[in-house]
Amino acid sequence: MKEAAPRTIRLAEYTPPSHLVEGVELQFTLAPRTTRVRSAIRFRPNPARPDAVAGTADLRLDGEALTLIRAAIDGTVLAAAPDATGLTIPAAALPAGPFLFEAEVEIAPETNTALEGLYMSKGMYCTQCEAEGFRKITFYPDRPDVMAPFKVRIESDLPVLLSNGDAVGQGPGWAEWHDPWPKPAYLFALVAGDLVAHSDRFTTRSGREVALNIWVRRGDEDRCAYAMDALKRSMKWDEDTYGREYDLDVFNIVAVDDFNMGAMENKGLNIFNSKYVLASPETATDDDFARIEAIIAHEYFHNWTGNRITCRDWFQLCLKEGLTVFRDQSFSGDMRSHAVKRIEDVLTLRARQFREDAGPLAHPVRPASYQEINNFYTATVYEKGAEVIGMLKRLVGDEAYRRALDLYFERHDGEAATIEDWLKVFEDATGRDLTQFKRWYTDAGTPHLRVTDDYRDGTYVLHLEQQTLPTPGQPEKPPRVIPVAVGLLNPNGDEVLPTRVLEMTEARQSFSFEGLSARPVPSILRGFSAPVIVERETSAEERAFLLAHDTDPFSRWEAGRGLAKEVLVRMVTEGADPAPGFLEGLGAILRDDSLDPAFRALTLRLPSEDDMAQTLHAAGHVPDPTRIHVRREALIEAIARHLAGALGATYSAMSVPGPYTPDAGAAGKRALRGAALAYLTRIDGGAAAKVQYGVADNMTEALQALSALLDIGQGAAELASFEARWRDDALVMDKWFTLQVLHAAPDDCAANARALTERSDFDWKNPNRFRSVIGAIAANAAGFHHPSGDSYRFLADWLIRLDPLNPQTAARLSAAFDSWARYDADRQGLIRDQLARIAATPGLSRDLSEMISRMRG
Ligand code: ARG
Ligand code: ZN
Repeated sequence: MKEAAPRTIRLAEYTPPSHLVEGVELQFTLAPRTTRVRSAIRFRPNPARPDAVAGTADLRLDGEALTLIRAAIDGTVLAAAPDATGLTIPAAALPAGPFLFEAEVEIAPETNTALEGLYMSKGMYCTQCEAEGFRKITFYPDRPDVMAPFKVRIESDLPVLLSNGDAVGQGPGWAEWHDPWPKPAYLFALVAGDLVAHSDRFTTRSGREVALNIWVRRGDEDRCAYAMDALKRSMKWDEDTYGREYDLDVFNIVAVDDFNMGAMENKGLNIFNSKYVLASPETATDDDFARIEAIIAHEYFHNWTGNRITCRDWFQLCLKEGLTVFRDQSFSGDMRSHAVKRIEDVLTLRARQFREDAGPLAHPVRPASYQEINNFYTATVYEKGAEVIGMLKRLVGDEAYRRALDLYFERHDGEAATIEDWLKVFEDATGRDLTQFKRWYTDAGTPHLRVTDDYRDGTYVLHLEQQTLPTPGQPEKPPRVIPVAVGLLNPNGDEVLPTRVLEMTEARQSFSFEGLSARPVPSILRGFSAPVIVERETSAEERAFLLAHDTDPFSRWEAGRGLAKEVLVRMVTEGADPAPGFLEGLGAILRDDSLDPAFRALTLRLPSEDDMAQTLHAAGHVPDPTRIHVRREALIEAIARHLAGALGATYSAMSVPGPYTPDAGAAGKRALRGAALAYLTRIDGGAAAKVQYGVADNMTEALQALSALLDIGQGAAELASFEARWRDDALVMDKWFTLQVLHAAPDDCAANARALTERSDFDWKNPNRFRSVIGAIAANAAGFHHPSGDSYRFLADWLIRLDPLNPQTAARLSAAFDSWARYDADRQGLIRDQLARIAATPGLSRDLSEMISRMRG
């Protein structure tokens, strides 16, 4: 059988829809195998399509895996038969003006394992329609530039029946919902189940009373308080910071156990992976609490940036995602600490987005083509998309940013917009020309910024040079505008030039600073003012100086980071011993009580093994993951021995008395205490960790202790008691699965993972459980890249197995193979063999085959 050529969708080929929708009515009669969906859609020819106005345009409706029972136009039954991807109604069969299209289809949510469209999760019905899931529910123009108000009637015996908008009626066995705000089909949602609500209220600043509900399965209602609190803070923050108010009488959130991604911003009915809603001190870590706060905010913020203003087409995904990530990051910074949040965000950006940008999956923030859009919900679209907005804000200033955003909401409310529209509001609000800035959206790759300097007669000159390496399909990389925030310090540690943003627009450019009495020490890219890689020959002394004196907390952390990387590079490549200066510097940070504990914890955290592989590769070495692991472990032990006294003192000093609270202050202390414990465990045989595990009354401290023990090859008893306590709690057990893979010694990693997948509770069709093992193996760098190739085979086996059931999750996890080109010929060969084996699997999904073919190049 010949495979169909993969379809490629291109931005350049965008055409407006032939018909617009004035209103939709849907009626669902729910049954696991035989759900009936009746639709009544009022269409009119799109005035922007002369052919449709002239009556010569066909109407194309998307539809997949639907059994068509009946379709009619203005009451006349249609003869048309659907094909594999939809239904075409020829122009000749369409009335001249507006008309009513009706259809009745049957679908089987129970057999929907892809978790896209209408599916079932533990007896509950739910939906995921972004990006193109609505077409699995009924025939419809499933594209974001078709927006319409929806009326939905649900018939089912289940007690809770929810959809978008406000409830307009309900009785035994039915409920009706009306969403007055025009929306694209991807924001449609339906939930039906035996659910209970954790409820609260919010009064908007104009006095609108909003009912808030978090719907969960019975038994989970006592784990919703934190998410509810985060929701109310998000609602208030969006009013205060962006002037945006909620616009319905009710806001519902539902927690679902089977979910491909994190959460979804359906209008008035957000659906969440239960992992990002449910939290109690005993079951969730500090990081879980912080993530829940961020994701609750993210989905809520989409109400304006995504829902009221949506995307014209999926190429514009960053319009809503980059902006909404930027907004949730600002929110978390306001709630916690901007300095700490910025460092954490940069760590994530470098680990995920820089890696993506440096490999075969590199793509622009606004891609120009795709085969499967689900493959573009990436770190580039989301996190780099947010960085681009941060740069724009830095370039125009806070006040102009707010004016531009006001104009954006005013001009595009109710519309499906583009990046051009977005940039135009900034141009109109500020008078700036953003032609060059737009390259951040259209050009892939991370710019390298080479920095050299001169000092003569009181004048200091910074020479900047930018270069971006070619990425797939983009050999040429013209210079971009780069906001480079710099400050200058005197040799005595005083700041002589407070932060100033240099606007670099050329490939090479120099900036002078006059009237300096001594050669200053530059602090470059403060606050990580642009997503670039700074290359600067600098001495360990200068880094240590900045680590001790920089006034910018990000740059201060970055100096320590640079030192750690330098030490590790020398340990790996030259077999050097850990530099004593570095150990002293860490000690000074550890003991500096004027510093935020969360900041100290971040400074004590060494670069990850994958980060070191990326760093070594960029410096022209061929990274050996085994050796990186061994040398990094040696550094951890050296730090532990060198700082033993200070670590012990910090461990005691950071204990948080009283009952657990998830606030940033307490979490920061626990983070520092946990970092100290991880080091201490290397020298006390696990004594302190065992004690901590035994007395921990919260998941954060329990997991810190367990991880530390596993890292020294202990923890068997603790793992067993953990399992005994939590065996019936899937979210907590996911952590248990992950730990044993993530903290496995390189030689044990694949075997541990394999043994876990043989357990009866390895419910691999559940994405969280699948990721807890199959995702974890890719995160254990030395285990994944074990020279035997066992882990590569293991991952490939599971991707091949999952793909027919859940292509989206299989495709996402396949990205673990994207770094193959960094490694030696043997490893490259082993990975490429697995990529070839996956590619040769008959019937591969569009999702996975696109990923594999991009990685094979
Ligand atoms: N819009 C959602 C969010 O950012 C993500 C949904 C992605 N889903 C998907 N199947 N690609 O919160
Ligand atoms: Zn989002």
